[in-house]
Amino acid sequence: MDKLVIEGGARLSGAIPVSGAKNAALPILCASLLTPEPLRLTNVPQLNDVRTMRTLLRQMGVAQDGSGGTLTLQAERIDWPLAPYELVKTMRASILALGPLVARCGEARVSLPGGCAIGLRPVDQHVKGLQAMGAEISLEHGYIEARAAQLAGVRFGFDLVTVTGTENLMMAATLAKGRTILENAAREPEVVDLARCLRAMGANILGEGTSRIVIEGVDALHGADHRVMPDRIETGTFAAAAAATHGDVTLEGADDASLHAVLDKLREAGATADAIGDAIRVRGNGALAPLQITTAPYPAFPTDMQAQMMALATRASGTSVVSETIFENRMMHVQELRRLGADIDVDGNAATIRGVARLTGANVMATDLRASACLVIAGLMADGETTIDRIYHLDRGYEKIDAKLSALGARIRRIS
Ligand code: EPU
Repeated sequence: MDKLVIEGGARLSGAIPVSGAKNAALPILCASLLTPEPLRLTNVPQLNDVRTMRTLLRQMGVAQDGSGGTLTLQAERIDWPLAPYELVKTMRASILALGPLVARCGEARVSLPGGCAIGLRPVDQHVKGLQAMGAEISLEHGYIEARAAQLAGVRFGFDLVTVTGTENLMMAATLAKGRTILENAAREPEVVDLARCLRAMGANILGEGTSRIVIEGVDALHGADHRVMPDRIETGTFAAAAAATHGDVTLEGADDASLHAVLDKLREAGATADAIGDAIRVRGNGALAPLQITTAPYPAFPTDMQAQMMALATRASGTSVVSETIFENRMMHVQELRRLGADIDVDGNAATIRGVARLTGANVMATDLRASACLVIAGLMADGETTIDRIYHLDRGYEKIDAKLSALGARIRRIS
């Protein structure tokens, strides 16, 4: 199993390109199921989660062609409207196939995701929404089995804000008969990017980016070209690493509009963050100020940046408090940060972080994607060598992270 070895203390400086967004690419890949015509994508990040989604779609019969970040998908026929447990258990986002499959094929069999490291993460809202649209759904042998001759438009209010739930129902509604109104919808930029792609495919959607999305069903969608939006969480992660190492990093091809909450917190911590055209330049300016962070749905502070900011807070000159309100078990990085010398107490879903003068390198274990990114940032700040085990989590969601960090001057290497 690969590990990352980081020799801390290097100041990051230089410019790197931002990759396409994982959490936009995954639903957009599933949107290819909605039409027999080709969907041509650019800026698709090369990540393990994208590879898993491609495998899933290939098994269903979706033809694929392309190299680098360019990918054409064509679901001329769907042979197997099935997402098997073996793939779903490695990537929860496989649930995103459910809505498009029922809408296009009238049936789908998608494994329940099962347990997940960062919390329970049920899919009851996805199921409830499709039932409201007329799908008959049963749970058998660990699978969601859905059937609907024709989905019907409906007014549906989510009980809570769910990103993939919103995306699943929005995709399903594009081919439903009549108008669907989704209330309390997720406003995340990735939902907006998916809506843009669906619109290019002929869907009739209004209100994406607000909590009320209106979709007028159409008879069929067609092929389209779409460029996947830049990854705001990758951008935020490198921005936090720049601030943490008192660096000077320019992130090219970034989208600062989707990052306000994160950039504002970095500024509060004492860093400078400037948008210059489609780049963001982040400079660390000496001592870090402590932070108060509460995660919440967009446009508030994203849960996917919580762990990375906690790494920053470990070296702040004062006490920070980080509260996680989205997932019930997303503090697993705390015990690993403690191994590096951080002073953190956790009470429920709130962590109190008392800044320390130095972190010291140690062996640590990555537990999930963003926890891994947090450990990378802590390793960059620590004195001496930090070895991060189980970095397959990192490879699920960060494209060439070691190469990008090396290009910025980090002393980082991958060992097997
Ligand atoms: N929830 C329910 N029922 C549902 C759906 C969600 O109770 O039917 C709960 C979840 O348990 C959670 C909360 O609602 O407590 C929010 O979950 P959400 O559905 O929004 O999460 P998700 O759609 O499964 C996406 C991202 C995550 C990101 C969250 C929150 C993708 C593929 N994944 O997950 O990304 O953390 O939204 O913003 O878009 C990551 O990239 O590291 C990652 C975990």
